[in-house]
Amino acid sequence: MSTFSAPAKIILFGEHAVVYGYPAIAVPFSSLRATATLKPNARHESGLFITADDPNIKLQLNDQNLSHPLIFMAHALLKAVDCDTPPNVTVALNSHIPIASGLGSGAAIAAVLGRALYAAINHPLSDAELNQIVFEIEKQHHGTPSGIDNTVIVHEQAVYFVRDQPIQPVEVHQPVHLLVADTGEQSPTRLAVGDVRKLYDSNPEKTTIVFQEIGRLVEHARQILKHGPVADLGPLMVENHRLLDELTVSSPSLDHLVSAAINAGALGAKLSGGGRGGNMIALVTPATAAEVEKALLTVGAVRVHHTVVDDTHS
Ligand code: PMV
Repeated sequence: MSTFSAPAKIILFGEHAVVYGYPAIAVPFSSLRATATLKPNARHESGLFITADDPNIKLQLNDQNLSHPLIFMAHALLKAVDCDTPPNVTVALNSHIPIASGLGSGAAIAAVLGRALYAAINHPLSDAELNQIVFEIEKQHHGTPSGIDNTVIVHEQAVYFVRDQPIQPVEVHQPVHLLVADTGEQSPTRLAVGDVRKLYDSNPEKTTIVFQEIGRLVEHARQILKHGPVADLGPLMVENHRLLDELTVSSPSLDHLVSAAINAGALGAKLSGGGRGGNMIALVTPATAAEVEKALLTVGAVRVHHTVVDDTHS
């Protein structure tokens, strides 16, 4: 039995504008992971089976169930390497990454399923090759993904990302303490990305100005991450959240969590990922983390994780 794994991801700055060619910064969220374990099939079974605990499912790859997202993914992953005969194996998926919550769950599942299937058919791929395949699969779900999710997740590396350009690393001068809080509201990225597209189409000049401001803020954040002081990231997060709200992708629950975090002493806070629900991040210090976490839970966050971005994670 072999197990393959991939992390969730957190977009620190620049979501949505990144779809239009502006830069963004994202980091792996390594303590929250998806895994895929290869197991032999039960004795009477033959073909490719995919199981998952939550929800409890067992699916077989065949032409009848291609509409199921996991079967669709498995089919696309095998097709991408011209494999016509699915392996005789069971892939047991397990993910702690909430779905449709801005943490890259779809890309992480595709990455681990890919790693497991390619091991099963003895077709080793580099991370760069896997990244490209996962990106193609993301396109089927999102429509127009920038590629940031799959890149951070497959490479498990902090990135300064510009669409269609080679990834650049992010240097982190000082540990960045973040709380990641979940509104508990699922929101498919495709819808938020589609609405930003409508906004752009209806008013390209105004929307471009918002994207440009986000792009400038990402450049500034990159310099602060490199040289410090980390506290200066706080106001940039607040400004990025405001600009995302102008793009219509915040929500009452996200705004509520952002305000609660700041009132409880966070240096800054913003939504992270597609928005309209899902997760937000708050910049804290070891001294303020507990107080801010308590405030987030009190106003309705369904879970809060503490994570540290530093050079060992980037
Ligand atoms: O919501 P997530 O985790 O899929 O993040 C989406 C990030 C966007 O910038 C909104 C879309 C993209 O493809 O970059």
